[in-house]
Amino acid sequence: MFTRQLLRNNALFRVNLRKFSTQNTPKPTKSKAVPLAFLTFTGLGAASYFYYQQSDSKPTFLKKPLNYQEVYNKIADILEDVDYDDGSYGPVFLRLAWHAAGTYDLNTNTGGSNGSTMRFNPESSHGANAGLKIARDRLEQVKKEFPAITHADLWSLAGVVAIQEAGGPIIKWRPGRKDADSETACTPDGRLPDAALGQDHEDKATKELMMLPADLAFINDKKFKSFVTLYAKDEKKFFEDFAYSFQKLEELGVPFDENTKPMVLKPTF
Ligand SMILES: *[C@@H]1O[C@H](CO)[C@@H](O)[C@H](O)[C@H]1NC(C)=O
Repeated sequence: MFTRQLLRNNALFRVNLRKFSTQNTPKPTKSKAVPLAFLTFTGLGAASYFYYQQSDSKPTFLKKPLNYQEVYNKIADILEDVDYDDGSYGPVFLRLAWHAAGTYDLNTNTGGSNGSTMRFNPESSHGANAGLKIARDRLEQVKKEFPAITHADLWSLAGVVAIQEAGGPIIKWRPGRKDADSETACTPDGRLPDAALGQDHEDKATKELMMLPADLAFINDKKFKSFVTLYAKDEKKFFEDFAYSFQKLEELGVPFDENTKPMVLKPTF
């Protein structure tokens, strides 16, 4: 399917990733101030954690603001696993993010990434969501470490991590999604392309890459073709349009607080 193909087979992302990995040779640490500062910082962290634990009776002190860069880094930490698929959870995290968001329906203003309704049956067993449990389960490690983040924000952020860590464009992101309480909030089946129609791009017999009907439409349809040609020639334009569209997808139907501005989270490489 599109997302899988995007990360696996998109030459632009790959080339870009290679560029980063060859150019970014780590610089030696400049001074001893860094480990010192680190020690002081972690010391403070421990102290404030204690403080928050002690002040249970005053709920106003309980909410330590989430540092979304820390959450981002943690997700980036668990992306790789040699025992899973071709070694990365990136593609399946991205698919989770888009299948959570892609249920949005403009006419009824329902669905979208707000609610994280895929935690519940029947949405978890919709055909289009087959194979996504493994992504949701893996992200539970992050939820445990940062319990304040909602599942809905976590899944959405995981999509951003998957794209950025693969060398894709920077996607502006903001928190504000809430978690629904029960399956009554689930969206009806049929709002997403079926997983069965978008399997692997690998021909199991020959191990060759193949094109799916959606890929063929990109070159057979005149309108799509013009974008394919444009993006093939202009990576910057491709990245800009992709980042804009992905952010828009992730924000459909989300009740953001008007003071929450989109933020840029830094890739870990
Ligand atoms: C977002 O999700 C929460 C939890 O399910 C719900 O109460 C709220 O109405 C939703 N907001 C919108 C705009 O859909």
